[in-house]
Amino acid sequence: TMAPEMPETPMPDARVIGAEIMAHLDALAAHSETSEGLTRRYATEEHRAAIGLILGWMRDAGMTAALDAVGNCVGRYEGNQADLPALIMGSHQDSVRNGGRYDGMLGIITPIACVHALNQRGERLPFAVEVIAFGDEEGVRFQSSLLGSRAIAGDFDMAALDRVDDDGVTMREAMRSFGLDPRAIPAMARKPEDVLAFVEVHIEQGPVLEAEGLPLGVVTGISGGDRLEVTISGMAGHAGTVPMGQRRDTLCAAAECILAVEAHASRGEHMVGTVGIVAAHPGAVNVIPGCTAFSVDLRSPDDTVRRTLVDDLVREFTAICDRREVSVEIETPHRGEAVACAPWLIEQIDAAVAQEGITPRHLPSGAGHDGMAMDAITDIGMLFVRCKGGISHNPEESITTGDAGIAARALLRFMRAFHRP
Ligand code: HGY
Ligand code: MN
Ligand code: MN
Repeated sequence: TMAPEMPETPMPDARVIGAEIMAHLDALAAHSETSEGLTRRYATEEHRAAIGLILGWMRDAGMTAALDAVGNCVGRYEGNQADLPALIMGSHQDSVRNGGRYDGMLGIITPIACVHALNQRGERLPFAVEVIAFGDEEGVRFQSSLLGSRAIAGDFDMAALDRVDDDGVTMREAMRSFGLDPRAIPAMARKPEDVLAFVEVHIEQGPVLEAEGLPLGVVTGISGGDRLEVTISGMAGHAGTVPMGQRRDTLCAAAECILAVEAHASRGEHMVGTVGIVAAHPGAVNVIPGCTAFSVDLRSPDDTVRRTLVDDLVREFTAICDRREVSVEIETPHRGEAVACAPWLIEQIDAAVAQEGITPRHLPSGAGHDGMAMDAITDIGMLFVRCKGGISHNPEESITTGDAGIAARALLRFMRAFHRP
């Protein structure tokens, strides 16, 4: 006799769970420092408002939920026994300036919705589930990055506490006035044996899935990235009186350096280079800039390629500044090695995507994610969700309710079948 068909464990309707997710993302997007796009920086009133919503939704989903020492929201849904090791899922609460409402938050709200679906059915899994909403991944306020996930992974750089924001407030002061205790950060580090894996749902932030008509993709690895802070010092002067041949104009030197970033990064297809911030001091129309600072963001899926790009540009910046008789200082506030997603997690995410009737499409992530930090203590996996035109870090960033629902169904299938090999 045939074994009785296993009843398909009840699955939420994609439109229903998708609408729940989109409504929560819209509620979160109301808390922004800017009206054009979403700006939510670390340890700000907007961050505090997001924490209130997220902790509430975690508790409604049947989780215990609390804020940790560095401003992450940590929700926990016990397994079929107490104190089991946890499958951790999650993403970041913070945004870039004038960004979109899906980058980060989608990877927080989707697993919460999945736990909610389990809890509604009284379902418990043979492991605990934790959802972590990391307080700062983009690093917009303090130019560092992955603050929340590095604290969880035990490699938070305590020297970063001295970094200052645009108003001269140190990270330490910002944490304290936010009600956080920086001294408790080292004790936050998770033991690898308490963590089974880290899996993040995130918008693709690229054009591949949309071009191939796929709602979901399975990530193979995350590009490594270096962030440089370049400061060029020359001589401020009167715009009307200093002859062109006698100037030590730092903004012109920076301009040459910035075009060098574009030229070097355009040489190979597996690397990208971006200058997003330029500041000329003193910033007056009739003063030759005596000091100019700019940021450089360099990425590649191949660490050797990235390191060579960094070295070449440091040499080129130095040559340009020597020739122009200005001095240059280069700091590296952030360096993240490329990380690979674990094959066993790719396989289990593939299976869940396939059960949703979607051909699993493997693709790398050019964007950085919290998995780069979590890789220090556990294996990582990522599920990508199609986004319109591949647009991100832009108010036009968007996804559909249907895709949000399909992502939640695939994640729920992944959770129910999850097991360490
Ligand atoms: O910069 C990145 O790739 C990510 O958005 N933090
Ligand atoms: Mn981002
Ligand atoms: Mn992100």
